[in-house]
Amino acid sequence: MKRYVKIFTYGCQMNDLDSQKMYSLLAGHGCEATDSTKKADVIILNTCSVRQKAYEKALSNLGRLLPYKKRKPSLIIAITGCVAQQAGSHILERMPYVDIVIGTHQLHRIAEIINEKAPGSGPVVETSFSDCIPSLDIIPESRFRESGHRSYLNIMQGCDNYCSYCIVPYVRGREISRDYRSILQEVRQHAATGAKEIFLLGQNVNSYNGGRTFPQLLQAIDDIDGIERIRFTTSHPKDMSDDLIACFQTLDKLCNYIHLPFQSGSNTVLKAMNRNYTRETYLSLIDRLRSSRPDMAFSADVMVGFPGETEQAYQDTLDLIERVRFDGLFSFKYSERPGTQAATLVDDVSLEEKLARLRNLQEIQKQITIENNRARIGEIFEVLVDGTSSRHEEQVYGRTRQNSIVNFTGDHSLVGTTVRVAITRANPNSLTGEAV
Ligand code: 5AD
Ligand code: SF4
Repeated sequence: MKRYVKIFTYGCQMNDLDSQKMYSLLAGHGCEATDSTKKADVIILNTCSVRQKAYEKALSNLGRLLPYKKRKPSLIIAITGCVAQQAGSHILERMPYVDIVIGTHQLHRIAEIINEKAPGSGPVVETSFSDCIPSLDIIPESRFRESGHRSYLNIMQGCDNYCSYCIVPYVRGREISRDYRSILQEVRQHAATGAKEIFLLGQNVNSYNGGRTFPQLLQAIDDIDGIERIRFTTSHPKDMSDDLIACFQTLDKLCNYIHLPFQSGSNTVLKAMNRNYTRETYLSLIDRLRSSRPDMAFSADVMVGFPGETEQAYQDTLDLIERVRFDGLFSFKYSERPGTQAATLVDDVSLEEKLARLRNLQEIQKQITIENNRARIGEIFEVLVDGTSSRHEEQVYGRTRQNSIVNFTGDHSLVGTTVRVAITRANPNSLTGEAV
């Protein structure tokens, strides 16, 4: 019997990839992907508890599924991802209509668990931390990939850093790296099916240790024919080795862009966050990366309103932002995660103050982003074309190696090709140009 499956994805790129994997696994077991919630026989909510907004959205959407279940009692509702791992069977106390809860190390078992679920039988909760390698090793079918020419792949999962605010070590487990041979085999397979860009994923990719160091892994991928670009996320400043910094100079395919979260520009706050670096070492890291690759572009994660963040500490964060001049920032207001070390601290920054600091920070970053974009007018960049614009039929968009989004006149035949584009206009979050 064919079943229709719909997956709602929340949070990060890791979850996007996990959803692609689940669609692939289920397609091999008689399920067909659908966009329609009404038509679905299986609905999966692939959740995130790292970002507060993603967490709240997943829970509110879960609440909205109850009428669908009432209308179609055979509907299977499954929860996967970080919320599933964190809450486990507690989800069923609040939402007894959930059928399946699958944790972050059990993703590879999704099809088996759904298929074995007998109608009317009780809920299944599978959240043990065992071995996540089988899940990391799954290669999604190319038809489920975001775009045929960009392939995301997991190289590791979990985190050993225990930043005091962060739930990741508890919901994704300790760091586990995939063997470099299966990674390289997967990259070759993607290259053979048309991938131009390889995007390596993990909570802490630069502490990768699956039989090779991270720089060695990058070097080996750089040697694979057909691949034109390599990107990775997320990195921890403390794991930015000299060898890795040198890769930006020596590896042709490694894009001149890095997402390097700093979280705070205050040494007192960084210490309380257990980040293991200072603002001075972060800034010198940026300098060294710029020396290795002068046209390096940066983005980062930053948080405001951590317990004990004084006005001066906040000003230190703004000062760091002004010094680095990131192309973009993912900015958050601190919120408590149960069970983390920071949850035991007295949160002495009011919600009002947190929001005011966040708004002000975002205003400052907006200005820097547009100024960075303006400075690119007149320059020529290689743009890997991702698709045609939904608003302007005659336009295509893609990304430069620095990760800027560029729109220019062109048609669908350009998708997946690299075009040299001269920048003519700077927009708040993108560039406009003309093919040269
Ligand atoms: N409160 C606010 N932001 C958080 N992040 C992680 N945990 C919290 C929290 N408790 C942010 C960090 C991290 C990003 C993925 O989410 O900036 O880098
Ligand atoms: Fe969380 Fe820190 Fe690990 Fe990043 S490095 S996943 S913020 S514990």
